[in-house]
Amino acid sequence: MASNKKPWGGRFSQPTDALVEAYTSSIEDDRNIAEDDVEGSLAHAQMLGEAGIVAPEDAEKLVSGLQAIRTELHSGTFPWNAAFEDVHMNIERRLADLVGAEVAGKLHTARSRNDQVALDARLFLRRRLRAIQGRLLEFEAGLVAKAHQHVDTLMPGYTHLQRGQPVRLAHHLLAYREMFARDRGRVEDALKRALVSPLGSGALAASPHPIQRELVAKLLNFPAITRNSMDAVGDRDAFLEAMSAAAISMVHLSRFAEELVLWSSAEFGFVEIGDAFTTGSSMMPQKKNPDVAELIRGRTGRVIGDLVALLVTLKALPMTYNRDLQEDKPPLYDALRTWHDALEISARMTPELLFQKDRLREALRDGFVTATELADHLVIQGVPFREAHEVVGTIVAHCIQTKKYLDDLTVEDLRAFDSRFGDDISQWLNVEAAVERRNVVGGPARAQVLEALKTAQVEIQSARRTLDAADHHNSQHG
Ligand code: ARG
Repeated sequence: MASNKKPWGGRFSQPTDALVEAYTSSIEDDRNIAEDDVEGSLAHAQMLGEAGIVAPEDAEKLVSGLQAIRTELHSGTFPWNAAFEDVHMNIERRLADLVGAEVAGKLHTARSRNDQVALDARLFLRRRLRAIQGRLLEFEAGLVAKAHQHVDTLMPGYTHLQRGQPVRLAHHLLAYREMFARDRGRVEDALKRALVSPLGSGALAASPHPIQRELVAKLLNFPAITRNSMDAVGDRDAFLEAMSAAAISMVHLSRFAEELVLWSSAEFGFVEIGDAFTTGSSMMPQKKNPDVAELIRGRTGRVIGDLVALLVTLKALPMTYNRDLQEDKPPLYDALRTWHDALEISARMTPELLFQKDRLREALRDGFVTATELADHLVIQGVPFREAHEVVGTIVAHCIQTKKYLDDLTVEDLRAFDSRFGDDISQWLNVEAAVERRNVVGGPARAQVLEALKTAQVEIQSARRTLDAADHHNSQHG
């Protein structure tokens, strides 16, 4: 690993210790931002030419050299050299091979690796967050499609994992879609603050050259530039926001996964996960395990850990850049990759969920899920809710003792507990009717669920169009 090279030139008379080189190197992780580094350098080189900081013909050489490097990176032929500590040095050295050391040496005019890496990571964020938005939309669309198939599948809704009140399975699935739609909103918010160009901040105190920071931002399609050079090289809150969004969304994915694990067990039997998304046991031939769901749940811990790792890295850093900041990127890469992949596989698995309508229906019957209906019926007859609650509680206890369901009871049976039960009581013990009565915005009645499905579809389509337009815009600039 010892290179004997001293990229920083005259200041040093001894080469860096080989162990130090290896210890400080970020080269393996940096591959993630290689294409972003080239993109940033292309804009910087163009600006240097436009601003007359380097001669136009040198700027042209820099641009064509960088384009050649971009091609090498895409085709996997870029000659990475572990002797150069990071992606920036690797690309600069390669550029020297391609356009000569003298011209290549001009690229770093008016730039430090501190503002360079801050820019690279923001470009990376944009690229990965756009992909994640795409995966979120696919997953949301999958949930909506599944909900569509189950508008008329009734099931118990739970609190405390105890059967509570009847709902439509579609309503349950659309609850998840709401969470993922908000996650997408969080990505959008994070991008607003991330797409600000730090280039021109230099090492910490900007540059004495007549740089054109807005031009670089425009070339990179960033709507704004940072307003303080020290902040721009010293903070990483744009990554924290993205990783917070990742952690929150992974928690949502994990809850969905947890329900699939529970529901696919024999104890629930509410869903069968398609064979392609389960695995067998090496020992127990009867097993069909929900490993995908379990790993989504399991990897959530890692993403939360990634966020915490960066928070802790930042918490005691003096201004401005410190090498600790190199530790921002491995957790960022890990969090975004893990989140992306969890969304992708969730979207693929969702159409393969076979909900067991009969089991869902059975769970409704022996769960006393219409007990609240009985109480609400008494309320309409003029009984204060607390008193009605007490009466129905006694009735449920009686049913448990005598091994009966609520709908086994006749009007006469009920009137033995309270004379105010009306003749229409069977209507209140019917689960369909119970769901239909909840016909308010946000409720599980059929009309409301159909409306919610329509709204979700329109939102997803319009977000898809916006995302495609942004991707198109960026690929034109790239
Ligand atoms: N690999 C470094 C990082 O990721 C690049 C910036 C290095 N800057 C410096 N002053 N050593 O933070």
